[in-house]
Amino acid sequence: MLLNDLLKNTFGRLEEGVKDFDFPFVPREVGYVTGVATGIVKVSGLPGAGFEELLKFPGNLFGIAYNIDKDEIGVILLGEDTLLNAGDEVERTGRVMDVPVGDALIGRVINPLGEPIDGKGTIAYTERLPIERPAHAIMDRSPVNTPLQTGLKVVDALIPIGRGQRELILGDRQTGKTAIAIDTILNQHDKKVLCIYCAIGQRASAVAKVVANLEAKGAMEYTVVVVAEGNNSAGLKYIAPYAATSIAEHFMEQGKDVLIIYDDLTEHARSYRELSLLLKRPPGREAFPGDIFYIHSRLLERSTHLGKALKGGSLTALPIIETEAQDISAYIPTNLISITDGQIYLSPTLFESGILPAVDVGKSVSRVGGNAQLPAFRTISDLKLQYSQFEELESFARFGTRLDENTQKTINHGNRIRECLKQNELCPLSVSEEIIVLLSLTSGLLDDVAIEKIPDAEQALISQMNAFPAELLKSLLSDKPITDQDKAAVLKTAGELIAPFKKKTEPPQTTS
Ligand SMILES: Nc1ncnc2c1ncn2[C@@H]1O[C@H](COP(=O)(O)OP(=O)(O)OP(=O)(O)O)[C@@H](O)[C@H]1O
Ligand SMILES: [Mg+2]
Repeated sequence: MLLNDLLKNTFGRLEEGVKDFDFPFVPREVGYVTGVATGIVKVSGLPGAGFEELLKFPGNLFGIAYNIDKDEIGVILLGEDTLLNAGDEVERTGRVMDVPVGDALIGRVINPLGEPIDGKGTIAYTERLPIERPAHAIMDRSPVNTPLQTGLKVVDALIPIGRGQRELILGDRQTGKTAIAIDTILNQHDKKVLCIYCAIGQRASAVAKVVANLEAKGAMEYTVVVVAEGNNSAGLKYIAPYAATSIAEHFMEQGKDVLIIYDDLTEHARSYRELSLLLKRPPGREAFPGDIFYIHSRLLERSTHLGKALKGGSLTALPIIETEAQDISAYIPTNLISITDGQIYLSPTLFESGILPAVDVGKSVSRVGGNAQLPAFRTISDLKLQYSQFEELESFARFGTRLDENTQKTINHGNRIRECLKQNELCPLSVSEEIIVLLSLTSGLLDDVAIEKIPDAEQALISQMNAFPAELLKSLLSDKPITDQDKAAVLKTAGELIAPFKKKTEPPQTTS
């Protein structure tokens, strides 16, 4: 009886104690590192880890579970692997990789993890989004119907880009690919288009130059720069465009128009090839893995023009690709050409002969932008024809053949088109400036101006835009084509402004 009471007493008190006891344990799934190679890590002991799950390593280092086998996981590291050793603990996080998004990022330079690298302090973000998100469904999308002005005469007139379009910029190294992208960003200063510039695998000095240019021109006020430098791990370079796209998508889903530049996807493909080979995935053509097409198509499919029901925002993508020895039929360029809605090809030959931007009009195309082009550009629609006729005839003229008057005229006119399509970098033009210059050109007003005087004549037009009635300039931006009357009025004023640059015609000789 005594023993019974004692037991009851003890257990009763134990029960009471346990009732209010808060267990401070949270289950953790922990595995360990079995091998470390450049940029990737092999991990064992995490049977529950899912595909693309974020895994945590010591030293606040993260990795993405990428190759999941029965006994082992191949992980892409998102940082330096120098501190890792075999046997180190690895922890599951139960979430996929995400980045901060929202207005707090505007004007900032960040790495693909969303951490600031511009020395301007922490970013007060309120929301994060996964870096890999499914593209919007077909029924959520609207046709491309609003132009995205680049401010470059040659692009806006001949290879127009629409908001929501994907237009590839490709060319050999140092042909002005980045310059076209930066000019396009600068030209959005009054267009309410937010810009994301994603630098992948570039030299830090090249990125610094871009950021300095954007800052000097006030473009950082509406731009986010996402940087994975050349010396960053392959994992960071690989996730950079996806992270940048999630940042852009967040703005698009708020109904805003967004422009994203991927500079460049050749480096992206190379870093993915490096990771795949280290993960022992079977190599295919040019040693790229089998899913190299998919990594770019799923990225670029996220750019679109959303329908009214989804607030009507748009994401325009300008991916950049570097070709080797002008080979646009290499593996990555052909993949990207087939994924995008057109391409702007930059020729090193044109670049070397000083024709800048070095756009090869014959090899460039815009498959959807024409529908979005402002109607005012229709008045200069014969520019492309005039230019291609000239290019054809030009090769004959090189042989020194005697040319008939008409051919000579076409060549003279063509030379002026070429001169007039030249444009310095960091000097984008407004739509009215472009139309007035190009209309003067196609109507032959510049044919009597010496080639070397063309830049001066063009400058005279641009600097005296107020000589044109304000109503007329406004009508150039409207959604109606220019009337014949307006066209005549433009040409009359333009003719007067250009007159001082025309070649002086010899006064007729009088014989006494
Ligand atoms: N329209 C232009 N007018 C004058 N200079 C230009 C123009 N476009 C480009 N450049 C000059 O040409 C050089 C190469 O331009 P850019 O860096 O844009 O080429 P890229 O093709 O992006 O080069 P990379 O292959 O190194 O990335 C730069 O020095 C730039 O200043
Ligand atoms: Mg470049």
